[in-house]
Order: sequence, then C-alpha cells, then structure tokens
Amino acid sequence: MDWHKAYNGKLNATTFLLRVKINGKNLCLVGFEDNIYAVGAICPHAGADLSGGWCSDGKLICPFHRYSYDIKTGKGDPGQNDYIDTYPVQVRDDGVYIGMHSFTDKIKMMFK
Ligand code: FES
Repeated sequence: MDWHKAYNGKLNATTFLLRVKINGKNLCLVGFEDNIYAVGAICPHAGADLSGGWCSDGKLICPFHRYSYDIKTGKGDPGQNDYIDTYPVQVRDDGVYIGMHSFTDKIKMMFK
C-alpha cells in the first residue's frame, strides 16, 4: 500500500468535509467524532460532489438527493444498493495521509 499526503499540517477532527485529489481520484476527508476518514468524493447515484454534503450520525449525506453512506464501511443505506470506496487514514506529525493500493498490490490481489 502506498501512502499519499492529503493535507499538510494538523486537522482538527471535529466535523468537517474536505475534498482532496490523490492520484487523479477525487476523495473526501471526513472529520467526525475525533477521527478522520477518507472516502470517494463522487456520489454513485448521479455524480454529485459528496464533499458539498454533510456528515450526520456517522453517515455522509449527498447534497443532491440525500442518499447516505456509512463513513467507515462506505455502504449506502438499505435500499440504495450502492457504496462509496473507503481508504485508510494515518495522522502523522506533518499531515494527514491516505493509503491506496498500488498497481502492483492490485495485481497481487487478483492472483491470490
Ligand atoms: S447524486 Fe447523490 S444522491 Fe443523487
């Protein structure tokens, strides 16, 4: 797994949404209850920017049609039958990092 710096410095992990771009992917950093999560920023329903939504009860709510996604698992609410990708996060002294599988990792997983 490769770790990519998504934010320089410290983020206060109270509730916030911050859109970042890593390796060409649009991601959303979510601060919620003293933790930071990273999820895909594009809503699978119709492509809205989830970083324009809000976080409530551990769910990221889309600003367009209010579909909601668990920020830990990425699962959409029952009945939506969809999900958003989730990524591991490390808070280091110099910033916030997001873990992403490298191309080599993906090939290895395919042949396990
Ligand atoms: S675009 Fe997100 S719920 Fe419709």
